[in-house]
Amino acid sequence: MGNAPANELSEKSIETRRIATAVGAEVKGIDLKRPLSSAQVEDLHRALGENGILLFRNAELTPEQHVAFSSQFGELEAHVIGDFALPGRPEIFVVSNVKEDGKLKGAVYAGQYWHSDLSYMKTPSLGSLLLCREMPEIGGDTMFANMYMAYDTLSETIKQFIGGLSAVHDYSHAYDTYFAHLKERPPLTAEARARTPPVEHPMVRVHPVTRRRALYVNPGFTKGIVGMPKEESQPILEMLFRHSTRQEFIYRHKWQVNDMIFWDNRCVMHYALADYDFSVRRHMHRTTIAGK
Ligand code: OGA
Ligand code: MN
Repeated sequence: MGNAPANELSEKSIETRRIATAVGAEVKGIDLKRPLSSAQVEDLHRALGENGILLFRNAELTPEQHVAFSSQFGELEAHVIGDFALPGRPEIFVVSNVKEDGKLKGAVYAGQYWHSDLSYMKTPSLGSLLLCREMPEIGGDTMFANMYMAYDTLSETIKQFIGGLSAVHDYSHAYDTYFAHLKERPPLTAEARARTPPVEHPMVRVHPVTRRRALYVNPGFTKGIVGMPKEESQPILEMLFRHSTRQEFIYRHKWQVNDMIFWDNRCVMHYALADYDFSVRRHMHRTTIAGK
């Protein structure tokens, strides 16, 4: 980003256009390669909280520019599994089925279940910026679910019931379930496990920007409810998962190369569809904004 002049300040610092009923706005009118004004950063934070995901088309950014753009929204966080990072760029998490010299270039089968990134950390992520580098012509979409809507449409009785509860999130849950039979995702190493002990988070969180309540449990990493045996918690969690993935809460994005999506991990879940030919290259770069 260097010494490039900052984006011009204007009365309307960004332009947004809603792209779906449930989640999503496309952002125009900014140069992704130049520093943002503080008004633009603030407006983008607001637009993110209000729309759940922000789509930037034609984001032809180098890894350095991707990192520089992302850093304006908060501190970047490296993934617990270093093998998935872009060599020399720990801030970039590679999601890829591409192999080089027999070795995968990133995390394969990443996110092929509903989840919110890093909900298994003590301080979960604010948001992630995924940049599409290569995409099969058919398939490989990503879905996003609006967790404000999920919360708002629960009955008052359930809202009250879960309002005082916390859930247990654990990275190893994904390994025990979704990754269990995949040789490309061997069990977590003792070191990765030590860095991701089970954590507890309230089942309902108030978004710090919009002040709206969002449901905060996800099938990928939420494995129980604090103070309940599995026999009790599992049916409740399953009901909440089924409810929060109703079709009217979902936006399904068909990727074009150089699309970048900034999603809000505090109020949306996402799901990478595994409906494409795995011999065709699908290659993505993600930066992750730390939460507070
Ligand atoms: C992720 C993820 C989705 C995708 O990078 O966090 O879940 O569509 N990926 O690759
Ligand atoms: Mn993810």
